[in-house]
Parts: sequence; structure tokens; C-alpha cells
Amino acid sequence: MKTKKTSIIAPSNIAFTKYWGKSNDELTLPNNDSISMCLDNVYTHTTVSFAKKYQSDSVEVTFYNQEKKVLHGKQLHRVMQQVDRIRKIAKTNLPVKIVSKNNFPQGTGIASSASSFAALTHALVSNLDLQISQKELTVLTRLAGSGSATRSIPDGFVRWYQSKDSDTSYAKSIENPKHWQLSDVVVVVSSEEKKYSSLDGHQLASTSPFYKARLETLPKRNQVVHDAIKNKNFTILGEELEKEALSLHVASMTSEPSIWYWSPATIAVFDEVKKIREQGIQAYFTTDAGPNVHIICEQENRTLINKHFSQLSYVETIFESNVGNGSREVEEHLF
Ligand code: PMV
Repeated sequence: MKTKKTSIIAPSNIAFTKYWGKSNDELTLPNNDSISMCLDNVYTHTTVSFAKKYQSDSVEVTFYNQEKKVLHGKQLHRVMQQVDRIRKIAKTNLPVKIVSKNNFPQGTGIASSASSFAALTHALVSNLDLQISQKELTVLTRLAGSGSATRSIPDGFVRWYQSKDSDTSYAKSIENPKHWQLSDVVVVVSSEEKKYSSLDGHQLASTSPFYKARLETLPKRNQVVHDAIKNKNFTILGEELEKEALSLHVASMTSEPSIWYWSPATIAVFDEVKKIREQGIQAYFTTDAGPNVHIICEQENRTLINKHFSQLSYVETIFESNVGNGSREVEEHLF
């Protein structure tokens, strides 16, 4: 009999309001709701297969611009924790073979772990024929530890709900990708892996004296961002998402110890975004846990913005994406 393989593509997502800090580490329960959009052009493709013939578990990954490698150490441990969680639900102990690749730099603030854990979880669940809802799939994905991965499962504009209870902290689509033609022009100023992971950031968040103030602003901000998406009000969305990114980085820079994700080039890009805005091009910046800048714009301005930023000496490369679907099954297998 042919061995069953399942392949999933899961996108990266960019958060307009961000997950930063947890109320429960083990269950990856966030302190606040967050809202993002899925990106159609930056993703992870993962193939999995459970079968006796593999004899032992194996995980092989090809990160963007890197050689293929067999995963080991901490990274392997995180993957296997998720595999074991799902094996337990499916009541199986079959060995698994996992092969994965992504098409954008790893660990540089482009949500590579979000797309990889979303692809992994979706592929494991489908290969074992677990009959669960999309809501349950987002909960299971969240448990892998990269909380933002939960927002890479549903399509388009997505909200992840904060809760003290695991079953009700899930992600759900607010609007589908066709609702609003927005783009994310990711300006890469460094593709070196960051020194501090977002896991460190979540852990230290509450040591900042500004973290409490940040949390207090978020219910209102989430409402404003949610409504701006529904009403397609780009100015309101843009102004909020910039303030939100700054608020996260103020908290991280003032935590104990302090964590800086930005480089001088990051701030140079911010300045340049403000400059083009003064010239009448609507564009707003945000950053995650890394130095690279996501410029959010309406699709009609995407090419112009790309052209402008690719001329700057400190820009390494640019990735462009529109709003995309969440994770989905594909026919192309990686082994
Ligand atoms: O999901 P994690 O643990 O990789 O954390 C993501 C943190 C941010 O990217 C900074 C914010 C977010 O909501 O995506």
C-alpha cells in the first residue's frame, strides 16, 4: 500500500496589533488579543507522513538561502513536542517523517516560526485524519509555543482572542483576503538571525514599567483596528499600527534586561516611510521581533514603494505580499 503523505502551505502573517507577553507559558495564552493579516507570498511548505516503515522520527528543513539540514537540539525538541501532542490525541505511536522548506529569511522578524508551526500542525493533523474544526486547529497550533502561528491558519484578516481558558483562546478570520487589497512590503535590512527570540521577549515583557500601560491601551486599540479593517479605513489602520509597533518596542527596550530588535537601518527606514507619506503616499511601518520593517500600504502603491526602498544602500532585499489565505493542503510533496 502507498504511504500517505500530506503537504501544507502556511503563510507568514504580519500583526497590526501584537501578541507580547503571556498569562500562561505552558498553554501559550496571550495577555491581549492580536490582529493580523496573512501574507500570500512568504510561506512554509511542509510534508509529513506517519508510517511504520520510517522506523524512527526524522525532521529535515531547508531554510531560505541555506543548505538542507537535519533538525537537532532545541529546534527539534519544539517540533517533537508538537508531534507527540498530536500523536497522543490520535492514539498512535507511528514514526513520522517531516520535510519542510520556507521562502524567506529565518528568525529575522518575518514570522518564520508562525508559518512553520502552522504548516507543521495542520499537516500532522491532516495526515492522521483527525476530525477537528478550524477553531480547534488554531488552538492546537497555539500550543506549539509560537502563539502567532495560530493566526496563520484562518484566511485573510485574522483575530486571535485572549482568554484564561485554552479552548477559548483561538483565532478566527475577521474578513477574507479579497475584502481589502492591502500589501506588505517587507524591507530586509539584515537577514542575520536575531540574538533574542520572541520567546525571550514574551518572558521579559512584564519587567518593563511601560508594559502595564501598553496592556491598558490594547482593548481600545484592537477595537479601532478591527473596525478600520471592517470599514477599510486605511489612515486609521495605519496610524494605529505604527503606534502599536512603537509601544511593543518601548516595552522590549525597557525590559530587564533590555532587548533591542532594531538596528540603525530600521530607524532609517522608519524615517523614509514618514518622508514618502509627506509626499502623499499612504504607507505605515511596523516591526516584529527583528530589525526588518514591514511597510503596510494599499496594493496600488506596492510597486512604487518597492522601487523607492530598493534603491537605498542599507536595504538587502525586499519581499512583497498581498493579503493571503491561511494554511491549506497542496498536492506537491517534498519527498
Ligand atoms: O508567536 P511568537 O512567539 O513568535 O511571537 C510573536 C511576536 C511578534 O511577532 C512580535 C508579535 C506578533 O503578534 O506576531
